[in-house]
Amino acid sequence: MHIPAPVTLVTGSARGLGFEIAQHFQDRGDKVHVVWRSDEARGAELYEMFDARTHRCDLADPEQADALVERIFQIDGKLDHVVHCVGDYMEAPLEDTELEDWQALLGSNLMTAVHLTNALREPMREQEFGSLVFLTCAGVSNYKARRNCAAYAAAKSALHSFCRSLAIQEAPHGIRVNTIAPGLVPHGAAHPATLDPALQQALPMGRAGTLEEVAQAALWLSSAHSSYAVGVELCVSGGLLM
Ligand SMILES: NC(=O)c1ccc[n+]([C@@H]2O[C@H](COP(=O)([O-])OP(=O)(O)OC[C@H]3O[C@@H](n4cnc5c(N)ncnc54)[C@H](OP(=O)(O)O)[C@@H]3O)[C@@H](O)[C@H]2O)c1
Repeated sequence: MHIPAPVTLVTGSARGLGFEIAQHFQDRGDKVHVVWRSDEARGAELYEMFDARTHRCDLADPEQADALVERIFQIDGKLDHVVHCVGDYMEAPLEDTELEDWQALLGSNLMTAVHLTNALREPMREQEFGSLVFLTCAGVSNYKARRNCAAYAAAKSALHSFCRSLAIQEAPHGIRVNTIAPGLVPHGAAHPATLDPALQQALPMGRAGTLEEVAQAALWLSSAHSSYAVGVELCVSGGLLM
């Protein structure tokens, strides 16, 4: 019997965690749709790597999110898994956090997820199957006070809360919603704080995480192996919360 390959959308996939995750899903055999926003040359590279399933999209714009999902259904007729990796970071004490910073951080971390979800809710419900994974941040979602990144912490906490509401609403429709909370994961474009030896050594595991370790968590949450996991925040953070 021929089983069609899963169709997966990974956002924030031009670089960093999103790119690593997209590669892992492609290696699993999925048809992977990737999204780039600003770097046209990178978009051309992704086009070659992901069999033309490449989309330019600013997910801060709800119309672009709608068009992205519509195009994926036109191309592949379904969408099994989504891993949403968009989410800007910023460090500043509260007194230096401007109104535009609040809007930008909430826009990037929360509203892109809202727009994407609004776009895919109906077609995925019709399938009565699917998984959505969102990237939060270990220690930020409701647990730990932050001195230097309040807007990011508030935005990720809002995303965490949104995802739990989404999980409870979509579970009866066969759509599982979960989150991954990475800790420190350095890569070429990550914030320099991810390379801070003092921060790394303060973790119980004494080191930063790897892109591969987060990608494996995304694969698990988007597989039959996690078929009873709903509303979970999977911390992949070297023990940050202990
Ligand atoms: N790396 C870590 O240590 C760490 C730790 C905890 C949580 N996380 C979370 O994990 C996720 C991925 O992290 P990362 O380090 O890989 O992030 P990253 O290096 O900042 O990459 C994010 C990607 O998202 C894209 N993007 C941003 N805003 C967008 C928008 N409005 N529409 C479409 N694409 C947009 C960016 O595209 P452009 O290139 O066009 O800007 C970029 O390619 C984020 O949610 C982050 O908060 C990361």
